[in-house]
Amino acid sequence: MTEDASLHLEGVSRHYGRVRALDELSLSIPAGAFVTLLGPSGCGKSTTLNIVAGLDTPDTGVVRLGETEITRMPPNERRMAMVFQNYALYPHMTAFDNIAFSLRLLRRPSDEVRTRVRAVAEMLDIGHLLERKPGQLSGGQQQRVALGRALVKQPLVFLLDEPFSNLDAALRARMRTEVKHLHLALGTTSVFVTHDQEEAMTLSDVVAVMRDGKLVQFGTTTEIYRRPATTYVATFVGKPRMSLVEGALRLGAEAATLVADGLELPLGAPGALGLTGTPPTLVALGVRAEDVRVDPSADATDGIAATVALLEPIGSDTFVELSLGPSTVVARVSPDMPLAIGQPVRMAIAPGRAHLFDAASGVRIGA
Ligand SMILES: Nc1ncnc2c1ncn2[C@@H]1O[C@H](COP(=O)(O)OP(=O)(O)OP(=O)(O)O)[C@@H](O)[C@H]1O
Ligand SMILES: [Mg+2]
Repeated sequence: MTEDASLHLEGVSRHYGRVRALDELSLSIPAGAFVTLLGPSGCGKSTTLNIVAGLDTPDTGVVRLGETEITRMPPNERRMAMVFQNYALYPHMTAFDNIAFSLRLLRRPSDEVRTRVRAVAEMLDIGHLLERKPGQLSGGQQQRVALGRALVKQPLVFLLDEPFSNLDAALRARMRTEVKHLHLALGTTSVFVTHDQEEAMTLSDVVAVMRDGKLVQFGTTTEIYRRPATTYVATFVGKPRMSLVEGALRLGAEAATLVADGLELPLGAPGALGLTGTPPTLVALGVRAEDVRVDPSADATDGIAATVALLEPIGSDTFVELSLGPSTVVARVSPDMPLAIGQPVRMAIAPGRAHLFDAASGVRIGA
Protein backbone atom coordinates (compact mmCIF):
# COMPACT_ATOMS: atom_id res chain seq x y z
CA MET A 1 0.00 0.00 0.00
CA THR A 2 1.13 3.55 -0.71
CA GLU A 3 1.92 6.00 2.06
CA ASP A 4 -0.22 8.65 0.38
CA ALA A 5 -2.81 9.27 3.07
CA SER A 6 -5.24 11.26 0.94
CA LEU A 7 -8.73 9.83 0.92
CA HIS A 8 -11.18 9.75 -1.97
CA LEU A 9 -14.78 8.69 -2.37
CA GLU A 10 -16.06 8.61 -5.92
CA GLY A 11 -19.77 8.27 -6.64
CA VAL A 12 -20.39 6.18 -3.55
CA SER A 13 -23.97 4.99 -3.05
CA ARG A 14 -25.38 2.77 -0.33
CA HIS A 15 -28.95 1.60 0.07
CA TYR A 16 -30.46 -0.24 3.00
CA GLY A 17 -33.61 -1.71 1.54
CA ARG A 18 -35.56 1.33 0.41
CA VAL A 19 -33.47 3.79 2.41
CA ARG A 20 -30.92 5.62 0.32
CA ALA A 21 -28.26 6.28 2.96
CA LEU A 22 -25.66 7.58 0.48
CA ASP A 23 -26.45 8.94 -2.94
CA GLU A 24 -23.52 9.32 -5.35
CA LEU A 25 -21.27 10.82 -2.70
CA SER A 26 -17.94 12.15 -3.95
CA LEU A 27 -15.39 13.63 -1.61
CA SER A 28 -11.63 14.18 -1.71
CA ILE A 29 -9.68 14.72 1.47
CA PRO A 30 -6.05 15.84 1.11
CA ALA A 31 -3.37 13.97 3.06
CA GLY A 32 -2.94 15.42 6.53
CA ALA A 33 -6.20 17.41 6.47
CA PHE A 34 -8.72 17.49 9.28
CA VAL A 35 -12.16 17.33 7.72
CA THR A 36 -15.50 17.32 9.47
CA LEU A 37 -18.60 15.64 8.08
CA LEU A 38 -21.49 17.78 9.29
CA GLY A 39 -25.18 17.11 8.90
CA PRO A 40 -28.35 16.25 10.79
CA SER A 41 -29.22 12.82 12.13
CA GLY A 42 -29.76 10.26 9.38
CA CYS A 43 -27.94 12.17 6.61
CA GLY A 44 -25.38 9.37 6.11
CA LYS A 45 -22.37 10.48 8.13
CA SER A 46 -21.76 7.17 9.93
CA THR A 47 -22.43 5.23 6.74
CA THR A 48 -19.71 7.28 5.03
CA LEU A 49 -17.25 6.63 7.83
CA ASN A 50 -18.07 2.93 7.99
CA ILE A 51 -17.48 2.63 4.25
CA VAL A 52 -14.13 4.40 4.58
CA ALA A 53 -13.18 2.09 7.44
CA GLY A 54 -14.29 -1.01 5.56
CA LEU A 55 -17.00 -1.89 8.09
CA ASP A 56 -19.54 -1.44 5.29
CA THR A 57 -19.35 -1.80 1.51
CA PRO A 58 -20.91 0.58 -1.02
CA ASP A 59 -23.39 -0.71 -3.63
CA THR A 60 -21.64 1.39 -6.25
CA GLY A 61 -18.67 3.72 -6.29
CA VAL A 62 -15.05 3.59 -5.30
CA VAL A 63 -13.00 4.39 -2.21
CA ARG A 64 -9.30 5.15 -2.58
CA LEU A 65 -6.47 5.78 -0.16
CA GLY A 66 -3.99 7.72 -2.23
CA GLU A 67 -3.78 5.81 -5.51
CA THR A 68 -4.83 2.50 -4.00
CA GLU A 69 -8.42 1.36 -4.38
CA ILE A 70 -9.63 0.01 -1.06
CA THR A 71 -13.38 -0.32 -1.68
CA ARG A 72 -13.42 -4.00 -0.74
CA MET A 73 -10.24 -4.26 1.29
CA PRO A 74 -10.76 -5.83 4.76
CA PRO A 75 -10.76 -3.24 7.59
CA ASN A 76 -7.63 -4.58 9.30
CA GLU A 77 -5.56 -4.05 6.15
CA ARG A 78 -6.53 -0.38 5.75
CA ARG A 79 -4.22 1.21 8.33
CA MET A 80 -7.08 3.27 9.69
CA ALA A 81 -8.29 3.68 13.24
CA MET A 82 -11.81 4.55 14.28
CA VAL A 83 -13.14 6.06 17.48
CA PHE A 84 -16.83 5.56 18.22
CA GLN A 85 -19.37 7.56 20.17
CA ASN A 86 -19.88 4.84 22.75
CA TYR A 87 -16.12 4.20 23.27
CA ALA A 88 -16.59 0.48 22.57
CA LEU A 89 -13.90 -0.52 25.09
CA TYR A 90 -13.54 -4.12 26.24
CA PRO A 91 -15.06 -3.95 29.75
CA HIS A 92 -13.11 -6.85 31.23
CA MET A 93 -9.71 -5.51 30.17
CA THR A 94 -7.63 -2.80 31.82
CA ALA A 95 -7.04 0.51 30.03
CA PHE A 96 -3.52 -0.74 29.23
CA ASP A 97 -4.81 -3.95 27.64
CA ASN A 98 -7.48 -2.06 25.72
CA ILE A 99 -4.86 0.22 24.20
CA ALA A 100 -2.43 -2.65 23.62
CA PHE A 101 -5.04 -4.85 21.97
CA SER A 102 -4.33 -4.10 18.31
CA LEU A 103 -0.55 -4.32 18.81
CA ARG A 104 -0.89 -7.73 20.43
CA LEU A 105 -3.04 -8.88 17.52
CA LEU A 106 -0.11 -7.91 15.32
CA ARG A 107 2.15 -9.95 17.63
CA ARG A 108 4.44 -7.03 18.40
CA PRO A 109 7.12 -7.82 21.00
CA SER A 110 5.97 -7.07 24.54
CA ASP A 111 8.55 -4.37 25.26
CA GLU A 112 7.52 -2.52 22.09
CA VAL A 113 3.86 -2.83 23.17
CA ARG A 114 4.72 -1.39 26.57
CA THR A 115 6.69 1.52 25.11
CA ARG A 116 4.04 2.45 22.58
CA VAL A 117 1.12 2.18 25.03
CA ARG A 118 3.06 4.29 27.56
CA ALA A 119 3.82 6.92 24.92
CA VAL A 120 0.20 7.44 23.85
CA ALA A 121 -0.95 7.28 27.48
CA GLU A 122 1.44 10.13 28.30
CA MET A 123 0.21 12.08 25.30
CA LEU A 124 -3.38 11.69 26.53
CA ASP A 125 -2.55 12.21 30.19
CA ILE A 126 -3.91 8.83 31.29
CA GLY A 127 -0.58 7.26 32.32
CA HIS A 128 -1.83 6.89 35.90
CA LEU A 129 -5.05 5.12 34.89
CA LEU A 130 -3.69 2.23 32.86
CA GLU A 131 -4.41 -0.47 35.44
CA ARG A 132 -8.09 0.44 35.74
CA LYS A 133 -10.93 -1.19 33.87
CA PRO A 134 -13.41 0.95 31.89
CA GLY A 135 -16.04 0.65 34.66
CA GLN A 136 -13.63 2.43 37.01
CA LEU A 137 -13.11 5.38 34.67
CA SER A 138 -15.17 8.52 34.00
CA GLY A 139 -16.72 9.08 30.57
CA GLY A 140 -13.97 11.50 29.59
CA GLN A 141 -11.25 9.09 30.75
CA GLN A 142 -12.85 6.22 28.84
CA GLN A 143 -12.90 8.33 25.71
CA ARG A 144 -9.20 9.10 26.19
CA VAL A 145 -8.53 5.36 26.38
CA ALA A 146 -10.53 4.92 23.18
CA LEU A 147 -8.44 7.66 21.53
CA GLY A 148 -5.31 5.94 22.80
CA ARG A 149 -6.40 2.66 21.30
CA ALA A 150 -6.71 4.42 17.95
CA LEU A 151 -3.47 6.42 18.24
CA VAL A 152 -1.31 3.46 19.21
CA LYS A 153 -1.90 1.88 15.80
CA GLN A 154 -0.15 4.85 14.16
CA PRO A 155 -2.77 4.80 11.43
CA LEU A 156 -2.64 6.65 8.13
CA VAL A 157 -6.21 7.85 8.69
CA PHE A 158 -8.19 8.64 11.82
CA LEU A 159 -11.95 8.26 11.77
CA LEU A 160 -13.92 9.77 14.62
CA ASP A 161 -17.69 9.22 14.76
CA GLU A 162 -19.23 11.73 17.19
CA PRO A 163 -16.63 10.72 19.77
CA PHE A 164 -17.56 13.33 22.37
CA SER A 165 -21.34 13.37 22.24
CA ASN A 166 -21.65 11.43 25.52
CA LEU A 167 -19.56 14.00 27.39
CA ASP A 168 -20.80 17.14 29.12
CA ALA A 169 -20.36 20.51 27.40
CA ALA A 170 -17.22 21.59 29.28
CA LEU A 171 -15.43 18.26 28.81
CA ARG A 172 -16.43 18.20 25.17
CA ALA A 173 -14.86 21.59 24.59
CA ARG A 174 -11.67 20.41 26.29
CA MET A 175 -11.48 17.16 24.31
CA ARG A 176 -12.03 19.16 21.13
CA THR A 177 -9.02 21.34 21.93
CA GLU A 178 -6.95 18.25 22.66
CA VAL A 179 -7.89 16.56 19.42
CA LYS A 180 -6.87 19.73 17.62
CA HIS A 181 -3.50 19.70 19.38
CA LEU A 182 -3.05 16.01 18.58
CA HIS A 183 -3.74 16.67 14.93
CA LEU A 184 -1.26 19.54 14.86
CA ALA A 185 1.36 17.30 16.43
CA LEU A 186 0.74 14.15 14.35
CA GLY A 187 -0.64 15.51 11.08
CA THR A 188 -2.66 12.35 10.45
CA THR A 189 -5.47 12.62 7.89
CA SER A 190 -8.61 12.82 10.04
CA VAL A 191 -12.31 12.61 9.37
CA PHE A 192 -14.49 13.75 12.23
CA VAL A 193 -18.26 13.24 12.21
CA THR A 194 -20.61 15.54 14.08
CA HIS A 195 -24.13 16.93 13.83
CA ASP A 196 -23.06 19.94 15.90
CA GLN A 197 -22.20 22.87 13.63
CA GLU A 198 -20.31 24.66 16.36
CA GLU A 199 -18.10 21.62 16.92
CA ALA A 200 -17.47 21.37 13.18
CA MET A 201 -16.56 25.03 12.86
CA THR A 202 -14.23 25.11 15.87
CA LEU A 203 -12.45 21.84 15.04
CA SER A 204 -11.69 21.75 11.41
CA ASP A 205 -10.11 23.56 8.50
CA VAL A 206 -12.52 22.01 6.05
CA VAL A 207 -16.15 21.01 6.48
CA ALA A 208 -18.26 18.70 4.31
CA VAL A 209 -21.93 19.53 4.81
CA MET A 210 -24.20 16.58 4.06
CA ARG A 211 -27.92 16.24 3.52
CA ASP A 212 -29.93 13.13 2.61
CA GLY A 213 -26.86 11.11 1.64
CA LYS A 214 -25.48 13.86 -0.57
CA LEU A 215 -22.72 16.37 -0.23
CA VAL A 216 -24.15 19.90 -0.31
CA GLN A 217 -21.01 21.92 0.27
CA PHE A 218 -17.34 21.20 0.79
CA GLY A 219 -15.18 24.10 1.81
CA THR A 220 -13.19 25.87 4.48
CA THR A 221 -15.09 26.99 7.55
CA THR A 222 -14.85 30.57 6.27
CA GLU A 223 -16.31 29.66 2.88
CA ILE A 224 -19.12 27.68 4.46
CA TYR A 225 -19.97 30.54 6.78
CA ARG A 226 -19.42 33.46 4.42
CA ARG A 227 -20.66 31.97 1.20
CA PRO A 228 -23.13 29.18 1.94
CA ALA A 229 -24.12 27.36 -1.24
CA THR A 230 -27.76 26.89 -0.28
CA THR A 231 -30.30 28.14 2.27
CA TYR A 232 -29.90 24.76 3.96
CA VAL A 233 -26.19 25.34 4.65
CA ALA A 234 -26.86 29.01 5.43
CA THR A 235 -29.31 28.20 8.19
CA PHE A 236 -27.56 25.04 9.47
CA VAL A 237 -24.23 26.75 10.12
CA GLY A 238 -23.98 29.74 12.43
CA LYS A 239 -25.66 30.76 15.65
CA PRO A 240 -28.15 32.38 15.70
CA ARG A 241 -29.29 30.97 12.39
CA MET A 242 -29.18 33.24 9.36
CA SER A 243 -32.39 35.22 8.89
CA LEU A 244 -34.19 34.63 5.60
CA VAL A 245 -36.71 37.00 4.04
CA GLU A 246 -38.51 35.98 0.88
CA GLY A 247 -39.57 38.50 -1.70
CA ALA A 248 -39.21 39.83 -5.22
CA LEU A 249 -35.94 41.32 -6.36
CA ARG A 250 -36.25 44.75 -7.97
CA LEU A 251 -33.15 45.74 -9.87
CA GLY A 252 -32.91 49.46 -10.61
CA ALA A 253 -29.98 51.14 -12.32
CA GLU A 254 -28.65 52.49 -9.02
CA ALA A 255 -30.12 50.27 -6.37
CA ALA A 256 -31.39 46.76 -5.76
CA THR A 257 -34.39 46.30 -3.50
CA LEU A 258 -36.13 43.33 -1.96
CA VAL A 259 -39.87 43.83 -2.13
CA ALA A 260 -41.98 41.74 0.17
CA ASP A 261 -45.42 42.31 1.68
CA GLY A 262 -45.30 46.09 2.11
CA LEU A 263 -41.57 45.95 2.77
CA GLU A 264 -38.89 47.56 0.65
CA LEU A 265 -35.46 46.52 1.82
CA PRO A 266 -32.51 48.30 0.15
CA LEU A 267 -29.71 45.93 -0.87
CA GLY A 268 -27.20 48.48 -2.16
CA ALA A 269 -25.79 48.75 -5.66
CA PRO A 270 -26.98 45.96 -7.99
CA GLY A 271 -23.41 45.41 -9.26
CA ALA A 272 -22.23 44.46 -5.78
CA LEU A 273 -24.69 41.55 -5.67
CA GLY A 274 -22.73 39.84 -8.43
CA LEU A 275 -25.82 38.55 -10.20
CA THR A 276 -25.36 37.06 -13.63
CA GLY A 277 -28.19 36.26 -16.01
CA THR A 278 -31.81 36.75 -15.07
CA PRO A 279 -32.48 36.36 -11.37
CA PRO A 280 -35.50 34.25 -10.37
CA THR A 281 -38.75 36.07 -9.64
CA LEU A 282 -38.84 35.02 -6.04
CA VAL A 283 -35.65 35.20 -3.99
CA ALA A 284 -34.69 34.55 -0.40
CA LEU A 285 -32.54 37.22 1.17
CA GLY A 286 -30.22 35.90 3.85
CA VAL A 287 -28.51 38.03 6.46
CA ARG A 288 -26.36 37.11 9.45
CA ALA A 289 -27.01 38.75 12.81
CA GLU A 290 -23.62 40.50 12.82
CA ASP A 291 -24.37 42.08 9.44
CA VAL A 292 -27.57 43.82 10.55
CA ARG A 293 -27.15 47.39 11.75
CA VAL A 294 -29.60 48.72 14.27
CA ASP A 295 -30.13 52.39 15.11
CA PRO A 296 -32.34 52.90 18.17
CA SER A 297 -32.45 56.71 18.14
CA ALA A 298 -35.87 58.25 17.61
CA ASP A 299 -34.72 60.70 14.92
CA ALA A 300 -32.81 58.12 12.82
CA THR A 301 -33.82 58.03 9.17
CA ASP A 302 -31.30 55.62 7.65
CA GLY A 303 -32.36 52.11 6.72
CA ILE A 304 -35.91 50.91 7.17
CA ALA A 305 -38.35 50.86 10.06
CA ALA A 306 -38.50 47.79 12.30
CA THR A 307 -39.82 46.91 15.74
CA VAL A 308 -38.00 45.11 18.54
CA ALA A 309 -39.88 41.85 19.08
CA LEU A 310 -37.52 40.01 21.44
CA LEU A 311 -34.23 40.55 23.24
CA GLU A 312 -31.79 37.76 23.96
CA PRO A 313 -28.78 38.94 25.98
CA ILE A 314 -25.86 36.50 26.05
CA GLY A 315 -23.44 38.69 27.99
CA SER A 316 -20.92 39.78 25.38
CA ASP A 317 -23.66 40.64 22.87
CA THR A 318 -27.41 40.89 22.66
CA PHE A 319 -29.44 39.25 19.91
CA VAL A 320 -32.45 41.31 18.88
CA GLU A 321 -35.37 39.87 17.01
CA LEU A 322 -36.71 42.59 14.73
CA SER A 323 -40.14 42.54 13.10
CA LEU A 324 -40.37 43.98 9.61
CA GLY A 325 -44.01 43.56 8.78
CA PRO A 326 -44.56 39.80 8.60
CA SER A 327 -40.82 39.04 8.41
CA THR A 328 -38.31 38.59 11.19
CA VAL A 329 -34.61 39.43 11.16
CA VAL A 330 -32.19 38.80 14.01
CA ALA A 331 -29.49 41.38 14.72
CA ARG A 332 -26.46 41.26 16.98
CA VAL A 333 -25.92 44.45 18.94
CA SER A 334 -23.87 45.66 21.87
CA PRO A 335 -25.40 44.77 25.24
CA ASP A 336 -25.18 48.50 26.04
CA MET A 337 -27.60 49.52 23.29
CA PRO A 338 -30.76 50.88 24.96
CA LEU A 339 -33.52 48.69 23.56
CA ALA A 340 -36.93 47.60 24.81
CA ILE A 341 -39.50 45.21 23.42
CA GLY A 342 -41.96 47.05 21.19
CA GLN A 343 -39.53 49.88 20.49
CA PRO A 344 -39.39 51.22 16.92
CA VAL A 345 -35.86 51.25 15.46
CA ARG A 346 -34.19 51.58 12.05
CA MET A 347 -32.28 48.69 10.56
CA ALA A 348 -29.98 48.24 7.58
CA ILE A 349 -27.84 45.48 6.10
CA ALA A 350 -24.10 46.09 6.07
CA PRO A 351 -22.93 46.78 2.49
CA GLY A 352 -21.96 43.65 0.58
CA ARG A 353 -23.29 41.33 3.29
CA ALA A 354 -26.62 40.32 1.78
CA HIS A 355 -26.88 36.68 0.63
CA LEU A 356 -29.31 35.91 -2.15
CA PHE A 357 -30.82 32.53 -2.92
CA ASP A 358 -33.36 31.24 -5.40
CA ALA A 359 -36.44 30.94 -3.19
CA ALA A 360 -37.68 27.86 -5.05
CA SER A 361 -34.49 25.76 -5.13
CA GLY A 362 -32.63 27.33 -2.21
CA VAL A 363 -29.49 27.60 -4.36
CA ARG A 364 -27.27 30.65 -3.94
CA ILE A 365 -27.39 33.23 -6.70
CA GLY A 366 -24.84 35.94 -7.21
CA ALA A 367 -21.60 36.57 -5.36
N1 LIG B 1 -28.05 -1.09 8.91
C1 LIG B 1 -28.99 -0.28 8.47
N2 LIG B 1 -30.17 -0.76 8.03
C2 LIG B 1 -31.13 0.07 7.56
N3 LIG B 1 -31.02 1.39 7.48
C3 LIG B 1 -29.88 1.93 7.92
C4 LIG B 1 -28.81 1.15 8.44
N4 LIG B 1 -27.81 1.96 8.79
C5 LIG B 1 -28.22 3.21 8.51
N5 LIG B 1 -29.48 3.20 7.98
C6 LIG B 1 -30.22 4.37 7.52
O1 LIG B 1 -29.39 5.11 6.63
C7 LIG B 1 -29.51 6.50 6.86
C8 LIG B 1 -28.16 7.09 7.18
O2 LIG B 1 -27.73 6.58 8.44
P1 LIG B 1 -26.40 7.03 9.18
O3 LIG B 1 -26.23 6.18 10.37
O4 LIG B 1 -25.29 7.07 8.20
O5 LIG B 1 -26.77 8.53 9.61
P2 LIG B 1 -25.95 9.57 10.50
O6 LIG B 1 -25.79 10.79 9.65
O7 LIG B 1 -24.73 8.94 11.04
O8 LIG B 1 -26.98 9.92 11.65
P3 LIG B 1 -26.72 10.18 13.24
O9 LIG B 1 -26.28 11.64 13.36
O10 LIG B 1 -28.08 9.98 13.84
O11 LIG B 1 -25.69 9.21 13.73
C9 LIG B 1 -30.55 6.67 7.94
O12 LIG B 1 -31.79 6.94 7.36
C10 LIG B 1 -30.55 5.34 8.64
O13 LIG B 1 -31.80 5.08 9.21
MG1 LIG C 1 -24.10 8.43 12.98
